Amino acid sequence: MTISLYEKYGGLPTIIPIVESFYRRVLANDRLQPYFRGVDLQKLSDHQVNFIAAAMGAPSGIYTGRSLREAHAHLQVTEDTFALVAQALEDSLREAGVEEEDVTTMVSAIVGLKGEVVAA
Ligand code: HEM
Repeated sequence: MTISLYEKYGGLPTIIPIVESFYRRVLANDRLQPYFRGVDLQKLSDHQVNFIAAAMGAPSGIYTGRSLREAHAHLQVTEDTFALVAQALEDSLREAGVEEEDVTTMVSAIVGLKGEVVAA
């Protein structure tokens, strides 16, 4: 049996600083910030948590809202901006000392959801 990355990296106490670092990177980026303008702080913070959870292969059931496609349809997320968000995740994971192999797994999990987030 394999343990989840969430368990491997110690659950919430490790995840929270990764989420915070990811959150800062996204909002510091002039090309990403406009997407989140006008989105309330609670929603924004939920977004980052959901994002990291998805990267870590969170068990389904944590997020029970709209489908990813529905949640992002109005945003017109492009391939380029999606890649910038994925890069922010990669940088945050490395900074937190996540092993390279696991960084690859998590970034791949996010890239696997690209079709649901990027506007057709
Ligand atoms: C695989 C990658 C992503 C995942 C797993 C993800 C996850 C989510 C989730 C769970 C929600 C909440 C849905 C709801 O409120 O019902 C959401 C909303 C949102 N996402 Fe993402 N997201 C991803 C990528 C992105 C990207 C690349 C951007 C922008 C560049 C983005 C911007 C937003 C914004 C602004 C909202 C709020 C929309 C609103 O409430 O009007 N997301 N996302």
